[in-house]
Amino acid sequence: MRRLVLAVAGAAALGGGLWLGARPAAAVAPSAEAGAELAARWCAACHVIAPDGAGTDAAPSFVSIARKRSPEEVKAFLAKSHAKSMRGFTLSTREIEDVTAYITSLNDKAGK
Ligand code: HEC
Repeated sequence: MRRLVLAVAGAAALGGGLWLGARPAAAVAPSAEAGAELAARWCAACHVIAPDGAGTDAAPSFVSIARKRSPEEVKAFLAKSHAKSMRGFTLSTREIEDVTAYITSLNDKAGK
């Protein structure tokens, strides 16, 4: 009987450990800071990524995207490869979350 109790406790501890181990990744909120770094690295060649950035009209600025698109629309757009000139460039789900958080943070009209 004692052995059975120990076995059950062991399984519960193991299960609990796995569950806790899996939790942090899922619990991390999208990071606009990480998204900003990513944008500077991967997006700034074509897009004006900062509100005060110097402009080109090669691609819509991130501020203009933030104003007219919902986060869901941005994510859906980024899940497909975009701008033919990007040659199949794709982002991970995590990167999409982060860069969308950054773009969304630029929406100065939100709630106004
Ligand atoms: C090689 C140039 C290039 C790069 C690099 C690039 N884009 Fe774009 N992007 C464009 C062009 C051109 C458009 C507009 C045409 C289109 O919709 O494909 C666009 C459109 C978009 C749109 C949709 C705008 C709308 O009206 O809804 C989003 C969102 C976007 N880009 C995000 C990004 C992000 C995030 C990155 C970096 C990870 C990035 N882009 C990198 C050229 C680029």
